[in-house]
Amino acid sequence: MTRPIKQSEIGQDTFFGSIAGGRGPGQRLSNPKLWCLFVYFADSPAMQIPMNVLETVRKGLFRSRRGIICWSILKNAVNGFRLKPGSKVRFIDETPSDEVAHEKVGYIRYMFDEYLRYLPDGMQGKTVLELGPGDNFGVALLCLAHGADTVVCLDKYAAVRQPEFECRVYWKLRETLTGEQQARFDQVVMLDKQATFDEERLRIINDCPLENAASRLGRFQPHLILSRSVLEYLKTLEGAFDVMDRLLPPGGQLIHKVDVRDDGLFSASGHHPLTFLTPSEITYRAMTSFTYRPNRMRIDDFRCQLKRLGYPFELPITQLLEQEKEFSSPIGRLVKNNHYGKKELERIKEIRPHLAKRFSAMSNEDLLTTGFWLIAKKPGPVEEDPS
Ligand SMILES: C[S@@+](CC[C@H](N)C(=O)[O-])C[C@H]1O[C@@H](n2cnc3c(N)ncnc32)[C@H](O)[C@@H]1O
Repeated sequence: MTRPIKQSEIGQDTFFGSIAGGRGPGQRLSNPKLWCLFVYFADSPAMQIPMNVLETVRKGLFRSRRGIICWSILKNAVNGFRLKPGSKVRFIDETPSDEVAHEKVGYIRYMFDEYLRYLPDGMQGKTVLELGPGDNFGVALLCLAHGADTVVCLDKYAAVRQPEFECRVYWKLRETLTGEQQARFDQVVMLDKQATFDEERLRIINDCPLENAASRLGRFQPHLILSRSVLEYLKTLEGAFDVMDRLLPPGGQLIHKVDVRDDGLFSASGHHPLTFLTPSEITYRAMTSFTYRPNRMRIDDFRCQLKRLGYPFELPITQLLEQEKEFSSPIGRLVKNNHYGKKELERIKEIRPHLAKRFSAMSNEDLLTTGFWLIAKKPGPVEEDPS
């Protein structure tokens, strides 16, 4: 089964993608523009090999905690000029083979089936907002094939796509459906050299972070907001939860899968997996404010948001610190000597004295939680359907 696409797999485009805009005749280039020009050339195909060498040197030289912090601050400063909402981002480099298409279909189905587990009434007639769909709209198509009325896919960035390959994936996805579902699928997408969607039923916005989406979505009122591996990238949790609250009608549901690991920022260089919780807030912001990096919110931060809004909720835990595999089924709460023991507590004890202030008093269980579902419902009277 394919994993979610995460930061460590993002290609060069994120950091050194093309720059928009130009220079009028006779205009002098200001320093920031010269800097952008440098970055622009750094991205040209001819520079890919030297850039890869630079990245390898970087990995060799900047493996210490301080080295990674300094490099991230530099990279973030460059991204300040470059990585804007709507920027093209390559999430994953894929060979467009049949085998990869097959795997991708498996992953799309897996994501969708996981959502369905929390939807006993299914998708029939629902309006859905999917956050951060990534490089394809397979989940949205499955929602529609299962009877959803409309889906809006909202993303901060525009994924680099492979239209012909994407079409092949959708054909294969269609093969997994029943006759009735295929008929609904065919109503919303036309598959030729590239996929063309019925924009009334499947709307795609790929230049708007959730935090700014309220005005962009206008009167759209989703019954359901879902996402996988997205909430950990939000820049402000409070702002994003306020937007979701504004959009949802009473009885509307949130289903989000959240992965709060470090995306390899420090752990890929052999550091403790919670090292990313050690820099101060100011330093971490300088490392990541313009960059596609986790916001390092923990399960308790999400709990606080849901309590603030007064939503009934559950946060079933899916993953424990340093466990590559998820629990076979999500668990209500971590229990000592059952889900974790001496070894895990030793790891927390090791890092706790170095944690930034905000994390230093967190419970062992909250620090040990690296993945969970966020399942919540907006309270209030549900309007009866007049039909
Ligand atoms: C790790 S990918 C997950 C993609 C897909 N959901 C999956 O599980 O394979 C994270 C996605 O969230 C999007 N994203 C990041 N920050 C966002 C924000 N503030 N608002 C909306 N989307 C965001 C990214 O552009 C990307 O598409």
